[in-house]
Amino acid sequence: MSDTALPTSIDDTLARLSALDYVADRQLATCVYLALKLQRPLFLEGEPGTGKTEIARTLATMLGRPLIRLQCYEGLDLAGAAYEWNYGRQMMEIRLAEATGGGAKESRDALANELFSERFLTKRALLQAIDPANPVPPVLLIDELDRADEPFEAFLLEVLADYQITIPELGTVKASQPPIVILTSNRTREIHDAVKRRCLYHWVDFPDAKRELDILQRRVPGIGPALAAQIVAFIQKLRSLELTKLPGIAETIEWTRALMELDAMVLDPEVIQHTLGVLLKYQDDIARMQGSEAARLLDQVREEARVAGG
Ligand SMILES: Nc1ncnc2c1ncn2[C@@H]1O[C@H](COP(=O)(O)OP(=O)(O)OP(=O)(O)O)[C@@H](O)[C@H]1O
Ligand SMILES: [Mg+2]
Repeated sequence: MSDTALPTSIDDTLARLSALDYVADRQLATCVYLALKLQRPLFLEGEPGTGKTEIARTLATMLGRPLIRLQCYEGLDLAGAAYEWNYGRQMMEIRLAEATGGGAKESRDALANELFSERFLTKRALLQAIDPANPVPPVLLIDELDRADEPFEAFLLEVLADYQITIPELGTVKASQPPIVILTSNRTREIHDAVKRRCLYHWVDFPDAKRELDILQRRVPGIGPALAAQIVAFIQKLRSLELTKLPGIAETIEWTRALMELDAMVLDPEVIQHTLGVLLKYQDDIARMQGSEAARLLDQVREEARVAGG
């Protein structure tokens, strides 16, 4: 069996993700395993910076598939997401036919047919992902679906349910083998039930301390164990506060890199103060952590480490 075959079990899924430095919990690994086995899209909702986009990238690498990414945005429509007729080329073709005297009815009909053939079709992410000519089915990432307008979700239903798109002028294009589909949302609004029903669903939460430490040591090699443990303990405490935006794994990694850049061996209140902007992106949150609050959290971290250390 080639090493790009589908995983054979949940443990195998965990191991192969982890070989690519993606540390999943068992629940996520189960969803990924089932989505691959059952050929169902995987819908991932969760906090920002918790590895939703990264899982699609990792799966593409793990399975040796190309990654096709559709970044959603307000105003995204069928033309931006699936296909568009290339009007410019169609016009040129018409002019050319006129110039070469295509006046007869048969040649006019032939031209009309030709104008709506694949040659004049610009394929965007969704259509590319289900192109029957694909040598291997790709990983299709439909990222941040909550940013698109609600009507856009209706376009997706046919793709998600049957891996096909109907183009009125051309007919139905259907994948010869289904792509692996990952949808993500930061839940700035609810996604319609009709979309969710076609997918397996998983809420991607912040990692516990053990998993976060594992991620940190993989993503920032060379970090000292004392600093790594303190950073994770501090961030875990920070996430228990009522902040406007809690730091995700992405912020943990960034903060660690910043601290190492500053040659910090352990956390101290001063270095925390000076680097808060790497961790928190709202002035209210930063203001709250300035002064005694960061020092208080750090005291707790040190005390717990002392107790744990005996
Ligand atoms: N489980 C994980 N294992 C290893 N690294 C991770 C994991 N989760 C997140 N990361 C790291 O955190 C970074 C941010 O993750 P990612 O961009 O996937 O977050 P996201 O959930 O898509 O965030 P957003 O909602 O802001 O788009 C990744 O580039 C990766 O380095
Ligand atoms: Mg993302």
